[in-house]
Amino acid sequence: MTRRANATWTVTVVVPDESSLDAAGETVELEVAEHETILAAARSAGVWLPADCQQGWCITCAARLVEGDVVHPSARRYDDGDREAGFVLTCTAKPRADTTVVVDQYDDLLEHRADRGKPPGNAKLGD
Ligand code: FES
Repeated sequence: MTRRANATWTVTVVVPDESSLDAAGETVELEVAEHETILAAARSAGVWLPADCQQGWCITCAARLVEGDVVHPSARRYDDGDREAGFVLTCTAKPRADTTVVVDQYDDLLEHRADRGKPPGNAKLGD
């Protein structure tokens, strides 16, 4: 990865076929500035991704990192276990490389958190 001046990265957003989002089955490429979140860039481009708190807390915006790198400088609840398992929170994730994410991964991150005894985990499972 080579750092670029005023970096802008290409973020490829994959919406799974089985997603209930309007964009199910679509793959969208976004240009995302390094100070911008993936969620904000997607919404600016007219791609409506799920989100609620937009503070890196509720995990509604969970996605999986397939390729690349992101940072979460303002996420309120995101840890090394989430990162090592490949999860990102698009509401606070800012790219640091050309990146590919698969969105609409709330259920998987919820189970991952529950397996580790982390919130919202078991408190939300079964809702
Ligand atoms: S919208 Fe709540 S964690 Fe991203």
